[in-house]
Amino acid sequence: MKHGLSVGQIFTKMVTRPHRAGAFLSSVTAGWKDSRVNNMLARIDLEQASRDRDDCLGRLFGGAERVEEFLAELRSDHEFQEIQAQRRLQIRELIRNRRALVGTSSPFDAETLYVITRALQPEIIVETGVQYGAHTAHILLALKNNGRGQLHSIDFPQDLSPLECGYLVPEDLRGRWHLLLGDARDLLPKLLGQLHSIDIFIHDSDHSYRHMAWEYQTAWPYIVSGGVLFSHDVHYNSAFRELCQRHRNEISDSFELFASGVAAKRRETA
Ligand SMILES: C[S@@+](CC[C@H](N)C(=O)[O-])C[C@H]1O[C@@H](n2cnc3c(N)ncnc32)[C@H](O)[C@@H]1O
Repeated sequence: MKHGLSVGQIFTKMVTRPHRAGAFLSSVTAGWKDSRVNNMLARIDLEQASRDRDDCLGRLFGGAERVEEFLAELRSDHEFQEIQAQRRLQIRELIRNRRALVGTSSPFDAETLYVITRALQPEIIVETGVQYGAHTAHILLALKNNGRGQLHSIDFPQDLSPLECGYLVPEDLRGRWHLLLGDARDLLPKLLGQLHSIDIFIHDSDHSYRHMAWEYQTAWPYIVSGGVLFSHDVHYNSAFRELCQRHRNEISDSFELFASGVAAKRRETA
C-alpha cells in the first residue's frame, strides 16, 4: 500500500479524529515501512515468482497445470479485467492529485487468492482489511465461478480516500459479500464465534507484529482441516513465520509468494 501524506495532513487527521488516532497512526507508519518492503518487492523477478506460485499452489491443489488453468480463466474474463483496470486508474489519478492517501494491493496477490478460492471450493471465507477491495473482488469472482460460498470481510475505514470501501468490487459480485465495518479487535472474535468454522482466513488489516500475531492466533482454531490461512504483507515482521513454526505439526505445507504467506492445515485422515 502506498500513500502520499504530508506531515501537515497527518497532524490534521490525528487532531480531527482523536478516537481513531491509534489505528490511523498505525496505517501511516505501515505506509512508511511499505517503502522498505516495496523496494524489496520491486526487486522480485515476477516470472520467477509466477513459476514459484505454480509449484507451491500446484503442490497443494493438484498440479501446476490446474493453477495455470484458473489463472487463464481469470485473465480471460474481459469484463472483470476492464473494471479492475479502469477503477485502478481512477485510484492512481486520485493519489497523483493527493486526493487519496492510499493505493491498492498488487494484482499478483489478488490472483493468488483467486486460485486458492477456486481450487479449495470454500463455503466460508473471512478476511480483514478491504480498503478498495482488490482481494475482495477476486475472491468474490472465484466464489461466483464456484457457484457456492460466502465472504465475510471486516474493515475499519479511515477516510484516506474519497472512494468507498470495496470500490473495486463489481456490483454484480456483491451478493455473496458480507461487509462489517469496525475494528477487527472487536468484530473478528464475534464473527468467528458466530460462524463456528471457516475454510479460509485472510489477514490484510493492521500489519503491526502485535495485531498480525493476534489475528492469526484468533482465527487459526476456526480453520477447518484442509483449510488455509493467507496473510498479506508477511515481510513486515516475523509473525507469519512464528505462526508456521508454532503450528508446524498441524500444517501440511506453508510458503511465501511475493508479498503473501500461505499456511495450509493438514487434512485429517479418516
Ligand atoms: C492494506 S489495506 C487492505 C488492502 C486490501 N486487502 C486490498 O486488496 O487492496 C488495510 C486495510 O485494513 C484496515 N484496517 C487497519 N486496521 C484495522 C483494524 N484494526 N480492523 C479492521 N480493519 C483495519 C484499513 O482501514 C485498510 O482499509
